[in-house]
Amino acid sequence: MRIFVTGGAGFIGSNFVRRMVARPNVEVVTFDALTYAGNLVNLGDLEGLAGRHAFIRGDICDADAVTKAMAGADAVVHFAAESHVDRSIATSAPFVRTNIEGTRVLLEAARECGVQKFVHVSTDEVYGSLGATGYFTEESCLAPNSPYSASKAGSDLLARAYCETYGLPVVITRCSNNYGPYQFPEKLIPLMIIHALEGRALPVYGDGGNVRDWLHVADHCSALEAVLREGAVGEVYNIGGHNERTNLEIVKMILRFMGRDESLITFVKDRPGHDRRYAIDASKMKRELGWTPAYDLERGLAETVAWYVAHRQWWEGILSGAYREYYERQYGVGL
Ligand code: NAD
Ligand code: DAU
Repeated sequence: MRIFVTGGAGFIGSNFVRRMVARPNVEVVTFDALTYAGNLVNLGDLEGLAGRHAFIRGDICDADAVTKAMAGADAVVHFAAESHVDRSIATSAPFVRTNIEGTRVLLEAARECGVQKFVHVSTDEVYGSLGATGYFTEESCLAPNSPYSASKAGSDLLARAYCETYGLPVVITRCSNNYGPYQFPEKLIPLMIIHALEGRALPVYGDGGNVRDWLHVADHCSALEAVLREGAVGEVYNIGGHNERTNLEIVKMILRFMGRDESLITFVKDRPGHDRRYAIDASKMKRELGWTPAYDLERGLAETVAWYVAHRQWWEGILSGAYREYYERQYGVGL
């Protein structure tokens, strides 16, 4: 199976690529623009796997480049996106461009290339916000509240329409918040770990009572492999781990694992339009594909803290901007 993976130099994409190239009879082509969030260092350990893995730098909005790179692919797994809510509140244009127009370009290319499966990796944020009780099911209405989630919802609807109209074999996944190795340090968990390591204030938005449903990235990747291999065309699958915690609970767990003082916690202004609670009903994944997560949050978060402590060079390279030079060393031209 030859898999065309977009956004494979980002957090979840790089974890997925590493998982899949280890499989027999699988070849992966990673297609990634290397935006600020893309980091070839994330795939550094795959160097030397010529024949099993190839990296192509390209923009998913560039139809010619996409169609050329996708030729010969059996399947597409589409991660590439602008992914950070706070950035979308500051400037929404790149989100509409990459997440909606980029997805349209990929869907067109997939038609032209005759791919047999198109896995569109989406998010629980398209469902909006929950009250104190209840779960998102695949039948929940789409009610996005941020420019990021609105652009993801737009891409979901395009993917659905290409399946209905052109018979493109699309499957859509909607996952809850991921954590684990290689997450860009703008997101809650790596940001808090790094701030705690540096003895800086930990900025908790609002009252810290917003709830997220955390899933280890390895569990998301195992779910995506199940969807890629067995997911039914035209279906939506929710992916989540039943690990609902408030942001304050997560930050306190991190401080406990690190043996640091809770006095570092600082409450700051709330995020505009801040979704109060996400919680996923992932029973369809279990019932239809036999998928269940392997990690519990206590173990997964402890391992994640240990990973960031052990990989100081990785995140320092991001904070200093040096990670951009890795590409230049590999390819001889600057980003
Ligand atoms: P990320 O920001 O870490 O990585 C995104 C990757 O996409 C980067 O490598 C970047 O260079 C690439 N990219 C961005 N614009 C591009 C373009 N125009 N052309 C080609 N490549 C481009 O994101 P992530 O957290 O790994 O998320 C991956 C996907 O999973 C996204 O679609 C996101 O919506 C979805 N998702 C994320 C989470 C989460 O908790 N992180 C949860 C559910 C779903
Ligand atoms: O639910 C899935 C989504 O999870 C993905 O689709 C997104 O790509 C991903 O970024 C993530 O979105 P969130 O907005 O939930 O993640 P973030 O890490 O930005 O924030 C998690 C929670 O922590 C949220 O309630 C805001 C809060 N927060 C975040 C940061 C960065 C803080 O309190 N302080 C912070 O500094």
